[in-house]
Amino acid sequence: MPMASLPLPSITTSTTPTPNPSHSTRRIFAKPSHFITHAKRNNRLRISCTAQNQNDNAAQNVETSKGKVDRRNMLLGIGGLYGATNLVSTHEASANPIQPPVLDKCGVATYSNLKDEEQKIDTCCPPISDKIIDYKLPPVFGMKTRPSAHRVSPEYIFKYNMAIDRMKRLPKDDPRNFMQQANIHCAYCNDAYDQPEQGNLKIQVHKSWLFFPFHRWYLYFYERILGKLIGDPTFALPFWNWDNPKGMTIPPMYMDSKSALYDPKRDKESFPPAVVNLGLIPNKDPLQAVSNNLTIMHSEMIRGNSSAFDFMGKVYKEGSPVNPGAGSIERGAHTSVHWWVGDPGQPAKENMGNFYSAGRDPLFYCHHGNVDRMWTLWQYFLPSSKVPDKRITDPDFLNAAFLFYDENAQLVRVTVKDCLDNLRMGYDYERIDLPWLDYRPPPQSARAKINRIGTNAPFAETLFPLKVDKIVRFRVPKAVKGKAHELLVLENITVDTTKLLKVDVFVNDEDDNVTEIDKAAYLGTYAQVPHKTSATNSMATSSIQLKLIDLYNDMDVAGDDDIVVTLVPRHQGEGMTIGGIKVIRDPSSPAATT
Ligand code: C2O
Repeated sequence: MPMASLPLPSITTSTTPTPNPSHSTRRIFAKPSHFITHAKRNNRLRISCTAQNQNDNAAQNVETSKGKVDRRNMLLGIGGLYGATNLVSTHEASANPIQPPVLDKCGVATYSNLKDEEQKIDTCCPPISDKIIDYKLPPVFGMKTRPSAHRVSPEYIFKYNMAIDRMKRLPKDDPRNFMQQANIHCAYCNDAYDQPEQGNLKIQVHKSWLFFPFHRWYLYFYERILGKLIGDPTFALPFWNWDNPKGMTIPPMYMDSKSALYDPKRDKESFPPAVVNLGLIPNKDPLQAVSNNLTIMHSEMIRGNSSAFDFMGKVYKEGSPVNPGAGSIERGAHTSVHWWVGDPGQPAKENMGNFYSAGRDPLFYCHHGNVDRMWTLWQYFLPSSKVPDKRITDPDFLNAAFLFYDENAQLVRVTVKDCLDNLRMGYDYERIDLPWLDYRPPPQSARAKINRIGTNAPFAETLFPLKVDKIVRFRVPKAVKGKAHELLVLENITVDTTKLLKVDVFVNDEDDNVTEIDKAAYLGTYAQVPHKTSATNSMATSSIQLKLIDLYNDMDVAGDDDIVVTLVPRHQGEGMTIGGIKVIRDPSSPAATT
């Protein structure tokens, strides 16, 4: 692994500005020896930043009986017990949060065989339960520390392996059984659930602002079940540290073919020492791969995001069509790791390469550990000078709800607002350097500007709507001349959701070497993991926006009236049509120009 040549700045309490003084204590990541002191820290945090949750702690458990209680009355009942008006109040309201599925209406899940396009069905519905309890976060006495998967001890591996092994041996109809847990992902991601009372609209937890919260709760209960199975309530899931060069291979503990952590359905080309490919960029040079990865991390965590929705994903409420738009990490690094691990010899790139099967690989939960860690870092580490406006206060976000089985096989209802603070949920992440934090590409040379001025690239309006079946370069008028707070908006991106799709976006790029993205011109990506959105229609439409100001700061745009955009399809760009593209002023920026 080529680490010696890379700058690896470390993050420390003293040098990292924090967005909010009440969070400054979070800079000290938990170490195992700090278990006792964390309870104290957590009390402080609870007072300072989770006031909105006080009502929940007072909420009583709600028990319902399937079939005896009208579903709508049941929802109203739950709302009443919250003592607040922020849950569903009337059916007629213009928008409501996404409600949990009705388990006994769970249908078949669908997915496509990637090779012959044939549609398959799979049954992945959970057992039905008569009783749903409104979940209350238990008090935190000892903070769990999720470790970096490359750094764990043999004792940890032994315990983790034993826990997964026991999970696999549970009775098949136990909701905590390994396959039942894997099927949670299938059911929530491959159309098994309808939105209650919303006709044919499905519940989909990807490509929207529900992505991070859903997967956080999913891992939370998975972790508690594993802990219960080995009688160790401090057990913490590992995270695949793919954002750090030292973690950019499949973690060794998942490679032992005799271990319960092993899954034979993986791409052999991705076995260690292959470097994880966070951009699915065809480049075999491991040094270049590491540099590309760090560029992608910097871009998806910081450089490309203007609003909270750019990171979290787009608004998704009751009645919304599925797939309104994924956030930067979900589209980018998250998608790439799924695809990179999945086995190309399987019909639908099982297990990791398709949503219906991803949860069958124990590596999935390790991958999502790091995805979840990125959310935590974004919330509490990144200074507001870099990422303003991180909070989403819309009640239809905060009150969106899911159902899970807890470690006692009890069906529980959980809400987004209860999962916003990982410390309050009782876990933290091992502290690891973030080499991408300041991984800015070198400034562009003056020659790039000359090339650009001499370009005869057509204007975008003459090309769109555009099917991205080849590399295409065009000009887009700027909203403001020269350097300004602007966004590049890709509108009405219509995709076939059953395909892996990936298209990268470059602005004012100097040359055509698109296998090196560690340069000023790389702006971001659109990508998705294959899944189905409905039995009859696999198309979905969304839009994305990418922040331009950091990129402008690394190149000479003085006096420019337009930018030159290059779209580079990496995978099946022909499955994607972009309706339009434009540059707008960044509405979340205080000043329109710098
Ligand atoms: Cu629910 Cu990584 O997918």
